[in-house]
Amino acid sequence: MAHDDAAAAPTLDIARCPLAEINAFDPAILNDPYPYYRRLRSEAPVFRDPKTGIVSVSTYDLIMEVNRQPSVFSNAFGEALRSGSTGTMDPEEMAIMKDGIAVVDTMLTADPPAHTRYRKLSAKAFTHKRVEQMGAYVAKVTNDLIDSFVDQGACEFKSAFANHLPMIVIADSLGVPRSDMDRFHRWSDAFVVQLGGVSDRETRLEAARRIVEFQRYFIDRIEEKRANPTEDVISDLVHATLAEEGDARTMDYSELLSILQQLLVAGNETTAHTLTAGLYYLTADPALRARVAADPELIPSFVEETLRLLTPSHNMWRVVKQDAEIGGFPVKKGEIMLVRYGSGNRDESHFPHPDDFDPARPDAREHLAFGAGIHTCIGAQLARKEMVTAFPIILDRLKNPRFPAGRNAFRYSPNMLLRGVAELHIEFDR
Ligand code: HEM
Repeated sequence: MAHDDAAAAPTLDIARCPLAEINAFDPAILNDPYPYYRRLRSEAPVFRDPKTGIVSVSTYDLIMEVNRQPSVFSNAFGEALRSGSTGTMDPEEMAIMKDGIAVVDTMLTADPPAHTRYRKLSAKAFTHKRVEQMGAYVAKVTNDLIDSFVDQGACEFKSAFANHLPMIVIADSLGVPRSDMDRFHRWSDAFVVQLGGVSDRETRLEAARRIVEFQRYFIDRIEEKRANPTEDVISDLVHATLAEEGDARTMDYSELLSILQQLLVAGNETTAHTLTAGLYYLTADPALRARVAADPELIPSFVEETLRLLTPSHNMWRVVKQDAEIGGFPVKKGEIMLVRYGSGNRDESHFPHPDDFDPARPDAREHLAFGAGIHTCIGAQLARKEMVTAFPIILDRLKNPRFPAGRNAFRYSPNMLLRGVAELHIEFDR
């Protein structure tokens, strides 16, 4: 968030410290990474960190160049993450995962041709037409959630609202009961731990246990939908046929669970963080709030600008498939890369005054918050629908929002891939 970038200043002197000495995983850097990004973009847009060997790509144009070459810069990073920093999976974690199913790489962590096949099938679940028809439904979920706390004149917005809207929408779309929502949150958090690649051992073991729990639950749902199909995404996927080298077949558990885990996880924290950030901007800046409230046509670009400035999917992994070069910088087969979407979205050579929130920025939609290339977010239209529907209702019902004194730390979770604050306390007129 532009206004809060200084919320907790890193202990290091980022302006002077040699890049090679900065620990990019330091919670203080993760809390406010922008001074570090500015230095990366100007001094080393492609930078191999000598401490970790990870190669960062930080400018808008070079990130686009990486994403245009999926056969060189691959998304098959699943194994590397499952193995953690040691390169091999912890034996106890392996024993836990043995009780579950080894999922195959389908979308996010797959390359063509497998990626193309699974993506085609999954995209059918969120067609333009289906999502466009969801406006009234999303408005009802939004209003019902706000009804549950509006009389109090105060709330912690992320846990009262932002966590629930995307989870309810995805649970309803999949065709699983809302009453299981607490479990979905637990499982979603477990996958985030695995993807983040930076958690301690105990947290990873607990995440592995939860992932096995998730699998058991969804195998039961898959069997229910196989026997009695209903109008929902699980039924569609269970009965969909995958065309493979002339053969047509339905998907097995390892494929279905992989797709379901991505649909369940990918859209929750990301959308929740964006909703929370949007309300933060509206609360922190009354002039912005008045401008957006007076002109509903600004809502879509307000959402895009929130996505650009926050970039909830802040970094994404890639694996180098063959010796290559990027921006004149040689990279070697097997190296791990980070495409730094959060930095590309603040690249001054693409977005003038990149740290300013401009709800009428003409090219805001060119941001990288949904990625770019063959892995561009499959849920982007759904997430946008949720947000452009929810924000006018939030503006209308949580009048004159303000931050209660001393309640907000405005600290960002120490996660390499996901960016957002854990809590946002607000008060508003009843
Ligand atoms: C504000 C909300 C969201 C943000 C910021 C976001 C961000 C992203 C990004 C950056 C990628 C590309 C990853 C890469 O470059 O490798 C991605 C992919 C993906 N997203 Fe989202 N996402 C959001 C919402 C959703 C929703 C609602 C869903 C599910 C319905 C979803 C499902 C997926 C899936 C399955 C992929 C993998 C696509 C592929 O590899 O082909 N996302 N998302």
